[in-house]
Amino acid sequence: MNLIDSAVRTEFVDIVGSAHVLADPDMRATYEVDWTRRWTGTASVVVRPADTAELSGVLGVCHRQRLGCVAQGGRTGLVGGSVPRDGEVVVSLGRLDHVGVVDVIGGQLIAGAGVTLAEVHRQASAAGWAFGVDLAARDNATVGGMVATNAGGMRVVRFGQMRSQVIGLEFVLADGTIISRLEGPAKDNAGYDLSQLMVGSEGTLGIVAAARLRLVRELPVRATAMVGLERLEQGIDIVGALRRSATSLEAAEVLDGPTMDVVAARLGSRPPMEGYPWYLIVECAGDQDPSPHMADALADAPSNVSEGSGPRGSGSKGGTGTDGGIDGSRSDSAVAVATDPAARRRLWAFRDQITESIAQLGVAHKLDPGVPLDQLPAFTEEVRHKVAELSASASVHIFGHLGEGNLHVNVLGLRDDDDRVDAAVLELVARVGGSIGSEHGMGKAKARWLSLARSQGEIAAMQSIKQALDPRGILNRGVIFPDPPGSES
Ligand code: FAD
Ligand code: MLT
Ligand code: ZN
Repeated sequence: MNLIDSAVRTEFVDIVGSAHVLADPDMRATYEVDWTRRWTGTASVVVRPADTAELSGVLGVCHRQRLGCVAQGGRTGLVGGSVPRDGEVVVSLGRLDHVGVVDVIGGQLIAGAGVTLAEVHRQASAAGWAFGVDLAARDNATVGGMVATNAGGMRVVRFGQMRSQVIGLEFVLADGTIISRLEGPAKDNAGYDLSQLMVGSEGTLGIVAAARLRLVRELPVRATAMVGLERLEQGIDIVGALRRSATSLEAAEVLDGPTMDVVAARLGSRPPMEGYPWYLIVECAGDQDPSPHMADALADAPSNVSEGSGPRGSGSKGGTGTDGGIDGSRSDSAVAVATDPAARRRLWAFRDQITESIAQLGVAHKLDPGVPLDQLPAFTEEVRHKVAELSASASVHIFGHLGEGNLHVNVLGLRDDDDRVDAAVLELVARVGGSIGSEHGMGKAKARWLSLARSQGEIAAMQSIKQALDPRGILNRGVIFPDPPGSES
């Protein structure tokens, strides 16, 4: 348990100013719970540095005083990683919100850790570029949090994860040492790439202050398709065919029937086709309309793609008919293709609103396995079977990033502290050779299962790195690495 005496608090005040040291319980409250509402804790104090120098000063105090501290960005992380426990110091990065001038020649920008993803998109777009990562939490997720979790999202299939966008970072080690790799040539192999070591380290090795990010060229013409699938295998085949035939496959997302139902209810609108066990959303882009190149791949869908522009296909499975489709039109097709921006947005809403729709129903247990594509269909069946076996009241929602075989398994109707389902699903993932933290990381939520994901040799090497960079073990205790037996939880 951290005990912050008034002398330590005064040290923090001297560094960041009294307005940015929050000790009052009401002021701390929003920093003590995350987006999921499943993870909560208590902070002794919240400290909000304004720049790298202040961040260094704050960590210097924590190091000297051996105070556990947790880095916090937008608190949209889904594995409890940014929530304090046992009176830790929350180091909130929201004030590091400066975006540098976009390098329009090199296609790069430098953004502070507290800059939101939406702001990165705005700045990139204003300069004629784009940013390669997108996720539904864009209005709150920050550059620092996204670097720390190596965030993925809906464009990984095209541009890779956050790691692929990071050219260099400025970050602060546990003892306050500043490491800055924001300047100089992007191509630089002079020694270890410490910036990349920080990516995905979930705040356990250092705190990110700023990132130099690679921008990408946005292809101007897009076509988005929603496809009703009888079997998940059909979606995997379509995505494979699109990878081979389309100019650029930009997204390949999937949601199961129960998930579509809750999203449609929240949106108050019906999807273009209904009654399928799975729905695939794919997007391709090009300098010209990519939809002709998509047609062959989409022909593998339960019924063929229809022709025309704008959203196409708006019927129910089995032709029961609906007048509430994406544009009010009707057909029996299992494929709807949209090329104009408004119609594409309407299709994407069924993907974008998933997490919010599920959260509205309760506090979900959120798992994000990555499974080899050839095992994915059987895996989803087994997950449903396992959950039903363990809890009669639970409901399962499966959705995610089909391009990477990364499906989110959300289970509602479980007690917050009942992790039997979590354990069973993660053991199943390990058995099929998958990743138990494919996208969101380990956080505190999955730390106890680290040995399912990494060998003893790997864990020992990871612990050596942790020991070297954070010798007093003050950064994000209980994240990634489980607490040693017998220690406080
Ligand atoms: P936080 O939640 O504040 O922190 C996350 C972790 O990073 C914690 O361990 C924290 O200690 C650490 N951290 C935060 N800032 C720093 C820093 N400056 N330096 C070092 N460590 C730091 N994630 C995906 O990958 N793909 C998705 O598609 C996706 N979609 C989402 C949709 C919704 C609606 C929501 C709510 C979440 C989604 N997420 C997704 C999860 C989340 O948005 C990401 O994990 C994001 O990267 C977290 O950023 P944050 O700023 O909110 O970080
Ligand atoms: C997503 O892909 O929508 C996210 O990772 C969020 C989630 O898992 O709920
Ligand atoms: Zn995801």
